Amino acid sequence: MAKIALNFEDGVTRFIESNPNETIAEAAYRVGVNIPLDCADGACGTCKCLSKSGTFDPGDYIEEALSDDEAAEGYGLACQMRPESDMVVDILASSEACKVAATMHETEITAIELLSSEIVKLKAKISDGSSINFLAGQYAHIEVPGSGLTRSYSFSCLPDTNEMEFLIRLIPDGLMSNYLRDVAKVGEKLNITGPIGSFYSREFTKPTLLFAGGTGIAPFIAMLEKLAKEGNNQDVQLFYGATTAENVVELDRIHALGTNLKVYTCTSNETVDNHAPGFVTQWINKSVLTADVYDVYICGPNAMVEAVKTSLEENQIKHSNFYTEKFVPTGI
Ligand SMILES: Cc1cc2nc3c(=O)[nH]c(=O)nc-3n(C[C@H](O)[C@H](O)[C@H](O)COP(=O)(O)OP(=O)(O)OC[C@H]3O[C@@H](n4cnc5c(N)ncnc54)[C@H](O)[C@@H]3O)c2cc1C
Ligand code: FES
Repeated sequence: MAKIALNFEDGVTRFIESNPNETIAEAAYRVGVNIPLDCADGACGTCKCLSKSGTFDPGDYIEEALSDDEAAEGYGLACQMRPESDMVVDILASSEACKVAATMHETEITAIELLSSEIVKLKAKISDGSSINFLAGQYAHIEVPGSGLTRSYSFSCLPDTNEMEFLIRLIPDGLMSNYLRDVAKVGEKLNITGPIGSFYSREFTKPTLLFAGGTGIAPFIAMLEKLAKEGNNQDVQLFYGATTAENVVELDRIHALGTNLKVYTCTSNETVDNHAPGFVTQWINKSVLTADVYDVYICGPNAMVEAVKTSLEENQIKHSNFYTEKFVPTGI
């Protein structure tokens, strides 16, 4: 039995399991996910999808349905592909077109812990005892009780869990921020919908740079915990900036993850002993980044993500894979 994460064009992810010898399309149909199909015979190409990780038997098809170049890039035909391991697959259609909606979980708050005067660690467990799976780095929509409105938050814990965890910065007069500051209590119900998003860790096969701004550290904790669990010893450099020292959170937890993980921290609004003053961009130069090519992940506020992108370009730091997540206000 292989676990397959189907990523739809609109960022929704649905996990399915395939039985031995089952194609991806058959496994999807069995649980009500309607991947677009026409011939179901490897002849039309309607079900073309892109394998992002894992291995599969491509099955039988004709060149008109899938060219050799496409196959070499990782494309396959869902009606023919038989997974040989767990896989992540991009479906070239929206979740709506495939009759999939992100799952809404009824949860109960299990912890609201102030990590600093501005950052809360929120934990919530799924009330019916089931688990949520996600790709490390993805996020969920959390509904602010009584408002009908949601805000987006990245998971900061290992996937496949009954108890989710988030790191949330409380901003003055924010809807979710006010709820968490003044109203939320352990035991209260929260509706959490997910997983969502294309910012998730691919296989770490080359030196990797992670840039985190503020609570943008959350998805990286999920990624690094997954990496540590898998015993992956790839070289990873984490550049983690916050406004003040108290907002550099979860450092002990991060330092315990991975022998080949180097952590650089900085604070922009105060000068303190344990962190470099300034922004994460201070380390973007060829004396710190000595590998020929990197995979790069950036997460945080819009301005920070843009500054890191620009600095990487200016300093000619080469990358093969490049992923960003901006914590823009979710608004209405
Ligand atoms: C994909 C994604 C993932 C995210 N993950 C996280 C996460 O893991 N942790 C986390 O803390 N946040 C995360 N965010 C941001 C989060 O969704 C909210 O925008 C934030 O928590 C503010 O929500 P609120 O309801 O408290 O404020 P709102 O009621 O939405 O905002 C109130 C006012 O404050 C302004 N505002 C909103 N955010 C900020 C800000 N950051 N700085 C200054 N002013 C602001 C708004 O424009 C508005 O005027 C993520 C956003 C996205 C899009
Ligand atoms: S549906 Fe025609 S090739 Fe798969």
